Amino acid sequence: MRCVCLAKVPIVDADTCIGCALCASICPGTFEMEADGKSHVKNPAGEPEAKIQEAIDACPVKAIAWKQ
Ligand code: F3S
Repeated sequence: MRCVCLAKVPIVDADTCIGCALCASICPGTFEMEADGKSHVKNPAGEPEAKIQEAIDACPVKAIAWKQ
């Protein structure tokens, strides 16, 4: 069985997210847009850490952060 103990996981601040969907387009395995129009983490290890960092950096309102 694959280890799911992650050093850090991405979290989306739903109050800050404006639903631009950039994160879900960069990391479709990690983020998904839901009915509320906001991004949610569907799998914190959906992409390699560097790719998730790319999505974090791309978010125009900095709604994504690492939770250590
Ligand atoms: Fe929201 Fe930022 Fe993603 S605005 S949809 S968390 S890129």
